Amino acid sequence: MSEFLKIIDLTARAEEKELLHQVSLEIQEGETHVLLGPNGAGKSTLGYTIMGSPEYEVTGGKIYFQGDDITEEGADKRAKRGIFLSFQNPIEIPGITVSNFLRTALEQLTGERIKLFDFKKRLKNVMDTLQMDQSYADRDLNVGFSGGEKKKAEILQLLMLNPRLAILDETDSGLDVDAVKTVSKGIEEFQKKQGGSLLIITHNAKILEALKVDKTHVLVDGRIVAEGGPELVEDVGQNGFEKYLDKESY
Ligand SMILES: Nc1ncnc2c1ncn2[C@@H]1O[C@H](COP(=O)(O)OP(=O)(O)O)[C@@H](O)[C@H]1O
Ligand SMILES: [Mg+2]
Repeated sequence: MSEFLKIIDLTARAEEKELLHQVSLEIQEGETHVLLGPNGAGKSTLGYTIMGSPEYEVTGGKIYFQGDDITEEGADKRAKRGIFLSFQNPIEIPGITVSNFLRTALEQLTGERIKLFDFKKRLKNVMDTLQMDQSYADRDLNVGFSGGEKKKAEILQLLMLNPRLAILDETDSGLDVDAVKTVSKGIEEFQKKQGGSLLIITHNAKILEALKVDKTHVLVDGRIVAEGGPELVEDVGQNGFEKYLDKESY
């Protein structure tokens, strides 16, 4: 079994500021990892850097995906490899409906035409799972969507595009209890039925309740300061990041 995602000593910066310092992290196929850390720790930066956003410059280290060195590869190529990033703040796309956006994205990813009938059927199924009203399919992507609806739309993309590795950046922030449940159900579907691998960035342990978590990483000031199993999520939930912050000031 070859390696899935392997990040070695990754150092990255934006606008002359080093934001990630020698971050190493490994995810095996089918695993779910959780990334925790205080605000400004560099969690989103790590997500963007794995995805290949041009905003961040890798100045050291390597990213391997399924055995290939993708450190210098563009975001579109990484997407084709099956890496997916859900944004902390999803963008609005006026003029493009949810349905059109997803169909085009799917066709670009797979390089194949998809029959409208098959696509619509699948879209309907996934929207039912997410308890999304079918009318959303014909609305412009994220335009006028509430915070919760945007997050659901991200999970809809996740289930429709069915990537190999999904990085979910605070997909649960600002959601009410019911929406958290729905989003969590969607992630569970991706994890268990579609067999996808996950890196979940979250402050909300609730979203993880129904999920199998394999490993947890704590990022502080652009450095991985602790790693453990699912119990680390609980520990941080109860005690916060204080002990890791102390460690930093040695
Ligand atoms: N494009 C950028 N240019 C300059 N600084 C940035 C940029 N993106 C993020 N940062 C800074 O990097 C740090 C980490 O940000 P971020 O990755 O968003 O943290 P987190 O997601 O853990 O809250 C913050 O201090 C943020 O201001
Ligand atoms: Mg963030």
